[in-house]
Amino acid sequence: AATLGTQAVPSGRYFGTAVAAGRLGDSAYSTILDREFNMITPENEMKWDATEPSRGSFNFGPADQIVSHATSHGQQLRGHTLVWHSQLPTWVSGITDAATLRSVMNNHITTTMAHFKGKIHSWDVVNEAFADGSTQLRSSVFQKVLGEGFIEEAFRTARAADPAAKLCYNDYNIENWTDAKTQGLYAMVRDFKSRGVPIDCVGFQSHFGTSGPPASFGTTLSNFAALGVDVQITELDIATAPPTAYANTVKACLNVSRCTGITVWGIRDSDSWRSADNPLLFDSGGNPKPAYDAVISALGSG
Ligand code: G3I
Repeated sequence: AATLGTQAVPSGRYFGTAVAAGRLGDSAYSTILDREFNMITPENEMKWDATEPSRGSFNFGPADQIVSHATSHGQQLRGHTLVWHSQLPTWVSGITDAATLRSVMNNHITTTMAHFKGKIHSWDVVNEAFADGSTQLRSSVFQKVLGEGFIEEAFRTARAADPAAKLCYNDYNIENWTDAKTQGLYAMVRDFKSRGVPIDCVGFQSHFGTSGPPASFGTTLSNFAALGVDVQITELDIATAPPTAYANTVKACLNVSRCTGITVWGIRDSDSWRSADNPLLFDSGGNPKPAYDAVISALGSG
């Protein structure tokens, strides 16, 4: 029978999900995970607060659980995420000296990527650095202390740490082409590519309301791909999981050859960070919902 992963492979794409290490022991969860998905993003286990809770002391245990599961089940991995203002330990967000923060950021990137070297398909090197409703960066310790150049520095450090990994910038509310945030990011990616700054992909989180993707989503994916990067749908969930909205999202990706894969942000509605919205492809009982069938069908049309 068709599965999400096997339906995506013929067009050279993957179909993945966010995974929580603490749920791997739930047999219903793992059964769906290993039947349906061929790409895994650790939901929280590779974030800074989990991996370097205090300066220079790294804890990769929970992440390694997910990595070994993926390795033993033929699933690829997305690394999420190296530089992000959220889930950042206070020992980092309290740094005020530029040389110190630069060294701390570069050490975090280098040490974390070295630990997983050769095992990560794509890394979300920088996550959510742009401000909503603006072409500018959001305020963060990185932006305040290092200036906007921290993004370029993070990508250059990441390239040196694991040349085999695709380096992605990941964000939300960048799906609508005319939004200022989308335009601000587009200008950054265009500038990076023009100056040879190493960036390989843009991740569109795609956390949607009930209406699903904006009408311009296909244009956005196509325009970013034309800059010479892959585009990935990285955290897809849609309030109430309307089948048509999910199908439209899949078709928008299939229409862009450099849209290399889709990741939903969780398996069952009960696993979702926004569980009250019932936004995923499987219900809390692990049964596929109508949106699942719509995705299977849309993937098959690729
Ligand atoms: O691990 C602690 C646990 O020890 C503690 O007992 C418990 C109660 O305080 O909290 C646990 O940490 C929680 C963590 O998830 C792990 O479950 C945090 O409170 C909680 O805030 C955290 O939420 C995550 C959220 O990112 C944090 O920003 C969600 O699971 C995760 O789905 C969500 O994912 C983000 C992406 O990384 C970036 N894009 C947006 C997306 C949705 O917010």
